[in-house]
Amino acid sequence: MNELEIQNFWNQHPCGDLQVGGLQQRGGDYEAFFIDYDRFRYRKEAHILKCLDDIDFKGKQVLEIGLGQGADSEQIIKRGAIWSGLDLTPESVARIQTRLSLRQLPHQSVKQGSVLHIPYDDRSFDIVFSHGVLHHVPNILAAQREIHRVLKPDGELIVMLYARWSLNYMISIGILRRLGLLALHLTNRDPGSIYGQHLANARAMGLLSYLDMANFIHKNTDGPLNPYSKVYDLQTVKEDFPDFKVVRLYKRFMHAPLLPVHWQTLERVLGWHLWVHMRPT
Ligand SMILES: C[S@@+](CC[C@H](N)C(=O)[O-])C[C@H]1O[C@@H](n2cnc3c(N)ncnc32)[C@H](O)[C@@H]1O
Repeated sequence: MNELEIQNFWNQHPCGDLQVGGLQQRGGDYEAFFIDYDRFRYRKEAHILKCLDDIDFKGKQVLEIGLGQGADSEQIIKRGAIWSGLDLTPESVARIQTRLSLRQLPHQSVKQGSVLHIPYDDRSFDIVFSHGVLHHVPNILAAQREIHRVLKPDGELIVMLYARWSLNYMISIGILRRLGLLALHLTNRDPGSIYGQHLANARAMGLLSYLDMANFIHKNTDGPLNPYSKVYDLQTVKEDFPDFKVVRLYKRFMHAPLLPVHWQTLERVLGWHLWVHMRPT
């Protein structure tokens, strides 16, 4: 898979943009957009703030990879990190630079680039933090090698990856969405709608191939145009991050579209977000 395709997707679909009505649709009013975005994010995913509270960022050299709208970047800086950021897309970098300057957040640098070629020196960081990003990187072995290079030997990699053993993957995507597409595939839908895009994918690939989870997963985490996604459990983390050892792993976030579930008590068993703390070997 071509990284340019991935870059184009995220540049045209900045993470979470449309879920709060879009920056462009607000006439480019960044401040209003950031207020709405952060409110939306931390209402829906309140666990993120608690997880960040449990990480000691104070005075640490932190590299965040994959910035989206920069909501977590701001939170990490406010928790005392000496923060640097990296994102594949000019759009995300521009949004983060605007956020940092509007809110006068102290930081080291923000760069555009790929985790496959991290534009920082060896052994520069105490913490590399990457939330919801590395499961979108097909060449994960090269990515983790680069992260290992820029981390200090006693540093820590903290990531959020999508969880295989989750209600969202097993029931919502694995059963309900596939049945839904089977039921709809002979109907006509607006090509610009989500269903219309799924139907176009199914027609281009062949319905049965599209419904194979090896293909279907890419199109059911971040929208039907998303090029690549992977789900993880402890075993796949170990396989994909051979230069690290896992020191902590926990699930959060009961997210399962099509299922009316918000059973917070189940999130530790069947949550969609797998947080993993790793140390370089
Ligand atoms: C799903 S968003 C997550 C953003 C943010 N961390 C969050 O949790 O909202 C993925 C982000 O990672 C960036 N990204 C994707 N592939 C990347 C790569 N190879 N190197 C660096 N950034 C990448 C995208 O541009 C996008 O901003």
